[in-house]
Amino acid sequence: MKALILSGGHGTRLRPLTYSQQKQLIPVANKPVLFYAIEDVIEAGIKDIGIIVGPNRDQVIETVKSVDWDANIEFIYQGDPLGLAHAILVAEEFLDDEEFVMYLGDNILKDGIVEHARRFKELNPDSLILLTEVDEPQRFGVAELDENGKVKRLIEKPKVPPSNYALVGIYFFKPIIIEACKNIKPSWRNELEITDAIQWLIDKGYRVEASIVKGWWKDTGKPEDILEANRLVLDEIESEIKGSLDNSKVIGRVVIKEGSIIKNSTVKGPCIIGKNCEVVDSYIGPYTSVGNNCKVIGTEIEDSVIMEGSKIINAGRIIESLIGRGVTIQKGDSKPTGQRFVVGDNSNIVL
Ligand code: TTP
Repeated sequence: MKALILSGGHGTRLRPLTYSQQKQLIPVANKPVLFYAIEDVIEAGIKDIGIIVGPNRDQVIETVKSVDWDANIEFIYQGDPLGLAHAILVAEEFLDDEEFVMYLGDNILKDGIVEHARRFKELNPDSLILLTEVDEPQRFGVAELDENGKVKRLIEKPKVPPSNYALVGIYFFKPIIIEACKNIKPSWRNELEITDAIQWLIDKGYRVEASIVKGWWKDTGKPEDILEANRLVLDEIESEIKGSLDNSKVIGRVVIKEGSIIKNSTVKGPCIIGKNCEVVDSYIGPYTSVGNNCKVIGTEIEDSVIMEGSKIINAGRIIESLIGRGVTIQKGDSKPTGQRFVVGDNSNIVL
């Protein structure tokens, strides 16, 4: 079996971060979201991985290549993101008439895909789609199942949902899906929709089965989703202190990487502090991830993601924040007093 991981798309809902960074590279617990998908497919024993890349392909390729993966990874250029089914068509040569799992590179799944891959082998359907029970099915793509659990119909954001089972961004396919993708038309948003391709399979009498995801699942499409995914992943980390502590207190499960110095501070887990950070006279609280080479001085931070190379100095108390790379936030001391900003387009500041 092969894997097709999608790392293209515009990521408009994550602007301004996605003006300069492909959304699948945004870190959750200091690891790019995309790496969770790659790890899951490798864990399922898959050795041939194709990664769909879009206009920001160079940074995706460079980041993925910075790790020595136990798999062959090929990058497939999609160009404009014209839909998930379009991504499959672009990958036709790579897929080479084999069965495959398609994994959206901005999704994170607690328990990985090993169980689902086994179910796909056992049931041997034309497609197996992952579903999860949600409270507000109106906000998702929803599946209607028959009495045997087979998929009857897929409906995008239904006003009257036929079930609480939402589509997770992971799908197993036999090669017939390529014919399905070739036979559908672009939707109102001008995308070739994977739901239409799967519906084509159902309508033509092909067998589409479901596999229910039991542990948590997160689609990291919006800022609040990144923070939630960060909480979920940090909830499972184990302590590892490699940096140095000077007159500081560590409470709960905390990771502090090599070269970081924590001075006159309190760090309360679950949280992670990357390499070569300086934390002085500060409090780093639960559910916080601080990337490599950050400086936090005289500040309290809780429930936040601070990306690589940022400096936060005497900035009061920061909560529920998503802070990009190389950002500086500091208290000024020149007159007149007041807030001074240099902020990119579509930023969001709550004072
Ligand atoms: P979406 O989140 O639906 O789309 P997007 O990434 O463009 O984000 P936004 O709606 O905020 O503008 O895409 C789901 C996943 O699939 C995501 O990981 C990006 C990826 N993708 C592609 O690789 N190619 C595509 O053509 C599309 C539509 C998405």
